[in-house]
Order: sequence, then structure tokens, then C-alpha cells
Amino acid sequence: MRNNSNIRNIVILTGAGISAESGLKTFRAEDGLWENHPVEQVATPEGFARDPDLVQRFYDERRAQVRAAKPNAAHQALGRLDREFSGDLLIVTQNIDDLHERGGASRVLHMHGESLSAWCQACDARHRWDGTLRDGPACPSCGEAAMRPDIVWFGEMPYQMDRIFDALADADLFVSIGTSGAVYPAAGFVQQASANGARTLELNLEESMGSSNFDETRLGAASELVPEWVDEVLKA
Ligand code: APR
Repeated sequence: MRNNSNIRNIVILTGAGISAESGLKTFRAEDGLWENHPVEQVATPEGFARDPDLVQRFYDERRAQVRAAKPNAAHQALGRLDREFSGDLLIVTQNIDDLHERGGASRVLHMHGESLSAWCQACDARHRWDGTLRDGPACPSCGEAAMRPDIVWFGEMPYQMDRIFDALADADLFVSIGTSGAVYPAAGFVQQASANGARTLELNLEESMGSSNFDETRLGAASELVPEWVDEVLKA
């Protein structure tokens, strides 16, 4: 296994666990519901077709929550890593919040879309969106009232997969933070990175479905584990 002083290219995958201590709920709670809704109702194209009003209201609430949340020590540590690490870095997040960016990171890719973005189904434009969508606002580009949340739902293709696989091919360290390893393709990134020769490290509150695929797993809260790990990398 390489030690940190050889690391020149890091790919980090983050999930809901890194934002949990900022007050945003994780997906796989014991009741199997996401904020009191079955996932099929609010996170599938079929759910949206069935009841667009409910789905728009649901994401209007998520957007308001994201705006009220603040980055925690884990986001801030990754922001510091982004500023101070001189090698290549890509933070691939499954999260739709903007807490990585507000924690100071810029090399961030949102593979499941963004809460603060609206996607026009009429002209395909995307717009930064802070307000609500349930009232059917006009698209600033084409004027149609056809905007949906810019979120990748189950059954849809995550964003920028080519760029992610290129980064995984070049990584010498892959780190997964706060994700249960339950949802593909993200759950397969560890095997992809490993097959390409990267060292793999998992930081999570508890053992995940993918833990056995990592060279090392550290268990604990992201707000403690991530700053410790970033210190290790920057001191090496
Ligand atoms: N620190 C570190 N890990 C934590 C913390 C914490 N404070 N709190 C919770 N976790 C861990 C949980 O133990 C769990 O393993 O974070 C993980 C969160 O898992 P999920 O809720 O399944 O979230 P995630 O892996 O991001 O879900 C993936 O599923 O519903 C879809 O598109 C959605 O992006 C999401 C994807």
C-alpha cells in the first residue's frame, strides 16, 4: 500500500453522511423513508409524472433546507484540502446540497444533480434556482413554465460519468466519505479505482455495504475523521 507522501491524484466520493452533521437527513433511515416519503414517490420520473405538484413541493422544501444549512468541519476540511493539495483532486459528490462549495472546495462534481438548480424541460437550459418551482415559474431562457428540479432520479443517468471514470483511472488514492454503498454506479467506484491500482480508504459512521472492498475503513463521524485524514495528507 502506498503511503501519503506518494499521493499525487486523489478522487473523493461523498454521500449524505458528510452532510448529516449539518442537519440534512441521510436517505436510508431505518423507516425506509426519505423525509417521510417513499423514494419511488419523490425520486423517480414516474413519481414526478404521477404527481408533479407533490414532487415540486418536496424539492422546494429540500432547497429551503439546503439554503439554511451550514457546512460542517468535514466540508471545511475538504475545502482546505482543495486549496492546499498541489496534486490532482476531484470531489465527486452524490449530494445535491452546495455545502462542499460553501466549505471552500471548487473541484466538485455533482453526479446526482443540484438542489439549487432548475432544468427546463422545454429548452434544456439549466438555471441557478434559489426559490420555489411549485408555482410554475417561467424559464429565464425560453419563457415556458416547464422547469423541474435538476436532480438525477432513479432510472436516470448520473452526470459526467466519463469524466468520473477518467479520474478514477488516474487516481492513486480513492476515498469514500459518508455513503452507504447502496446505489450504483457510485457504489462501484471503489472496485474501479482498486482495479486501476489506487489505494482505497473509507470514512463512515458504520460499516457500509461496500466496506469489504476497501483497503482500509475508519469508523466515526465525518466531522472528526475527515479533518484528521486531511491533516495526514497535507503533512505528508
Ligand atoms: N459521518 C459519517 N458517516 C455518516 C454520518 C456521519 N456523521 N452520518 C451517517 N453516516 C453514514 C451512514 O452510516 C450511511 O452509511 O452515511 C451513510 C449515508 O448513506 P445513505 O443515506 O444511503 O446516503 P448515500 O450513500 O449518499 O445515498 C446514495 O441514494 O437515494 C439516493 O440519490 C440518492 O445520492 C443518494 C444515493
